[in-house]
Amino acid sequence: MINFKSVDETAIPQLMAIETACHSHPWTLNTMSSCIGGRYFNVAAFDEVSMIGFYIGEKAGPDFTLMDICVTPSHQGKGIARQLLAQFIEYGEQQNAENLFLEVRESNTRAIALYENAGFTEMSVRKNYYPSDNPAKNGFEDAILMGMALGLNFS
Ligand SMILES: CC(C)(COP(=O)(O)OP(=O)(O)OC[C@H]1O[C@@H](n2cnc3c(N)ncnc32)[C@H](O)[C@@H]1OP(=O)(O)O)[C@@H](O)C(=O)NCCC(=O)NCCS
Repeated sequence: MINFKSVDETAIPQLMAIETACHSHPWTLNTMSSCIGGRYFNVAAFDEVSMIGFYIGEKAGPDFTLMDICVTPSHQGKGIARQLLAQFIEYGEQQNAENLFLEVRESNTRAIALYENAGFTEMSVRKNYYPSDNPAKNGFEDAILMGMALGLNFS
């Protein structure tokens, strides 16, 4: 049984444990701390034992951005990110967001498939946006900017 709930700064150690287990270039503690509260929002997933995943979003007027989404490696491939992403989209709809955005490494085919399946489409490419350990990439890789339009209700 997976439970989903919003968390506050007291959950930063759990968020950071998942963040560092998931990403080749994880957020620093300072970045994570600055993305809790204020214009940021989140949902974390919990099994019977501990936190196993989360998303963090940002509100900027009518534009909501998915800043991060992670599922701890031992729980990947079980549909948890799909459920977290659905909650991000649902929250945007409830809050009358007009656009949802995100950025993803071009090499992150798993995340790109997740986003495409949820209805995000590629909008543009930011060249050499992310640091990369791939020597063939000269230390950087491109970011794909993806988006989804909401609120096309003109009534
Ligand atoms: C990307 C990530 C969040 C997916 O989490 P997850 O819980 O394993 O994903 P889900 O099980 O919900 O799968 C959702 C979709 O992702 C894609 N996906 C998941 N595992 C995959 C795999 N092994 N290979 C290819 N696609 C995969 C599929 O499209 C899948 O949809 P489907 O089950 O209908 O085929 C997870 O791999 C992760 O935390 N990665 C590291 C952090 C990261 O890269 N975050 C994204 C930053 S932009």
